[in-house]
Amino acid sequence: MTRHYDESWKRTFFCGETKLEDVGKEVILNGWLRRRRDLGGIIFIELWDKTGVTQIIFNPELNAEAHERASSLRSEYVLAVKGKLRKRPEGTENPELKTGLVEIIVDDFLVLSSSKQIPFEIDTSDTVNEDLRLKYRYLDLRREQMQKNLSTRNTVTNFTRNFFADAGFIDIETPMLTKSTPEGARDYLVPSRLSPGCFYALPQSPQLFKQLLMVGGCDKYMQIVKCFRDEDLRADRQPEFTQLDLEMSFIIEEDIIGLVENYLAQLFKKALDVETEKPFIRLTWKDAMNLYGSDKPDLRIDMTMVSLEEVFAEGENPFADLVAKGGTIKGLLLSGGAELSRKDFSDWENRAKDLGAKGMANFQFKEGVLKGPLVKFLNDEQLSKLKDLSQIKDGDALFIMAGENWQKSCEILGQIRLELGKARGLLKEGFKFLWITEFPLFKWDEDEERYTAVHHPFTAPMDDDVQYLLTEPGIVRSRAYDVVLNGTELGGGSIRIHDPKLQATAFEALNFTPEQAQERFGFLINGLSYGTPPHGGVALGLDRLVMLITGSKSIRDVMAFPKNHRGQCPMTAAPTVVDDKQLQELNIKTLESLV
Ligand code: AMO
Repeated sequence: MTRHYDESWKRTFFCGETKLEDVGKEVILNGWLRRRRDLGGIIFIELWDKTGVTQIIFNPELNAEAHERASSLRSEYVLAVKGKLRKRPEGTENPELKTGLVEIIVDDFLVLSSSKQIPFEIDTSDTVNEDLRLKYRYLDLRREQMQKNLSTRNTVTNFTRNFFADAGFIDIETPMLTKSTPEGARDYLVPSRLSPGCFYALPQSPQLFKQLLMVGGCDKYMQIVKCFRDEDLRADRQPEFTQLDLEMSFIIEEDIIGLVENYLAQLFKKALDVETEKPFIRLTWKDAMNLYGSDKPDLRIDMTMVSLEEVFAEGENPFADLVAKGGTIKGLLLSGGAELSRKDFSDWENRAKDLGAKGMANFQFKEGVLKGPLVKFLNDEQLSKLKDLSQIKDGDALFIMAGENWQKSCEILGQIRLELGKARGLLKEGFKFLWITEFPLFKWDEDEERYTAVHHPFTAPMDDDVQYLLTEPGIVRSRAYDVVLNGTELGGGSIRIHDPKLQATAFEALNFTPEQAQERFGFLINGLSYGTPPHGGVALGLDRLVMLITGSKSIRDVMAFPKNHRGQCPMTAAPTVVDDKQLQELNIKTLESLV
């Protein structure tokens, strides 16, 4: 028998696939030594590959030579093992393992590679410091959950490609080295050697290219594409991430919404065997803010907010002035909340203050009587209006958020809703999809003192609101839509402007002179002036989709080699300083070393 890896040592079974019906067969397994135990002179090891483990027995009485050599084996050595598959003796079965009824008695084995002492136990590596896991990501990837996540990701991408190919989309690649057109986030820049002093930008999304593909007659475009954004990182944000990016010509909103609903429903059936209710719920942005205080509400929590301005509009109460000035008063009902202690109420109020509120009042309904610091300011009619609007019942509590700024007040109480719901165990299982529509087209930017685009400057305004583009830009609603799942923004898109005149007006509303617009987006504007079909599209965050399907807490758990929350890769140590020679070639001088 040869003593190196050749045909004769190739596996006949995966480690997780040895079964009772194969007992008696001579088998060969290839894999990593996972656990090792020495018991009464017999050595037991578990041999691992991506499919699972099989127990291997080195018994000195049956094979002294193999047993002798096995004593030097350590964790994560790579082995090829030959032997006979047998049924485990009664009482030694392991029902937790899918191969727990069988084991292999070794005839011979080969050490294919040894391993240094591993820095953490692989099976429990999800409990170790994440930077250490990321530094040794190749070891962390040998964990069952990581293998499952990567495999689910592969299921999602394969399904996605097939689904959209069947729907008539073609996959077209767009450039990674492109022009800087700062949109929402900061760009990652790449210096050009051949054009000293000039930079490419890595794409934040293929937005402008996919629109030009529509001008180019491509009709239905799809791409699973890397995007790059230099923004602050969170559990669901990475500096480089993957989008499922789509664009279609000669369509309206319903075409894209219907297509995405079918895609997601079929994907969830395929990946999780979950049925999804269609059509998804739809909420306008304004209703979402009023009811949930969020543009990505988590509908798994069955609590909505109410508007209470009319309760406080009259009389001598602390909020009457605020209401007269157009301020906002929102209420959030907590069923059974009257049992909360004074300290609980004050803790929640402090949380609201941390979020930027001046305070948060409350009512409690106990034994038929409304209680709380505001009761004494309200007459019977106001109190009964309050009960009607809030639907408060005996045993409930009602939190009150009052503020000058409608959006901010809604958002703070919306965040309290989310945290309170989770803290009180009100978060239900399952998947709750919805669409948010009618986003504002623009938002006021305090720093730049001008309106900026909520999505991007090519998003079409709603027909009814075009008239306000230059007079009241703040009230113009857009033809944009976001798809939300369980409180996460899964994707977003819009119908685009395809009329150059309307585009020029939108730029004017954004305070871009025609020259500025030309300088930033000239290539798109030019393209759009050569016969542009009505078009629109959407992009879904593929990593976020896989994160929700696998139930992962962090987006990093569904990427093979993610960055940490400081945007660094602990394994490669990127980003690093580079040689002076490289900088010279690029005509770049750094002011100071920051590392
Ligand atoms: P948008 O900016 O909303 O739209 O991005 C689409 C989706 O991409 C995901 N996403 C991210 N995922 C992980 N890390 C990030 N840093 C990150 N940023 C965004 C989200 C988001 O919903 N070009 C438009 C789409 C269009 O209009 O067609 C765009 O990029 O899930």
